[in-house]
Amino acid sequence: MESTNNNQKAAEDESTSPKEQAADFDLTGQLVWPGALLLNDYLAKNAEMLQGCSIIELGSGVGVTGILCSRFCPQLLLTDHNDEILKKNIELCASSENPNCCAELAAEKLEWGNSDHIDQILQRYSRGFDLILGADIYILLLRICPTRVIMDSLIMKQAAEHGMRMVEVTGTRSVVGNLEGVIFEVALQ
Ligand SMILES: C[S@@+](CC[C@H](N)C(=O)[O-])C[C@H]1O[C@@H](n2cnc3c(N)ncnc32)[C@H](O)[C@@H]1O
Repeated sequence: MESTNNNQKAAEDESTSPKEQAADFDLTGQLVWPGALLLNDYLAKNAEMLQGCSIIELGSGVGVTGILCSRFCPQLLLTDHNDEILKKNIELCASSENPNCCAELAAEKLEWGNSDHIDQILQRYSRGFDLILGADIYILLLRICPTRVIMDSLIMKQAAEHGMRMVEVTGTRSVVGNLEGVIFEVALQ
């Protein structure tokens, strides 16, 4: 009986663990995706572009890209449709008393296209953001694109249809693990 109770308690504890909370269909919070490795490397080498910026990151996952950027910019908002892990990781970051962490770092729930979420964020951050970051947030397109050339042109076409200009950042095309990645800069036309 004792061991049954213990097992039950262990099962209850496990069901509320961060890993369990993160176990959604796209593994949010369980891994850092290759795109983040590429973007983190680029941003760490070009940190001057972050200085003085307020930044929002879309589809932050574990939050490592935003947390890295928070060393170089004054304000950073991490977002994801699953914001629980992001909030926990911000707490961990704050409790590690990292003297290099200078940004006002926060997390909000943002489901892409959800106008309630967008309105809430814009109410809280009425000055908007200077920079929007996202790593590996169009990965689902891979399933319908036989080659990267088709994928790139599809994304660029979509961006243009929404009034945005998307340009490949020279010298960023590289291989991470067994995947090819690249950084795009997107601006309003
Ligand atoms: C491939 S992961 C990339 C995570 C992180 N940027 C990285 O590179 O490690 C995609 C992220 O987008 C989030 N996501 C997927 N669909 C979303 C949606 N409709 N709205 C908001 N976030 C979404 C997932 O929760 C996940 O964290």
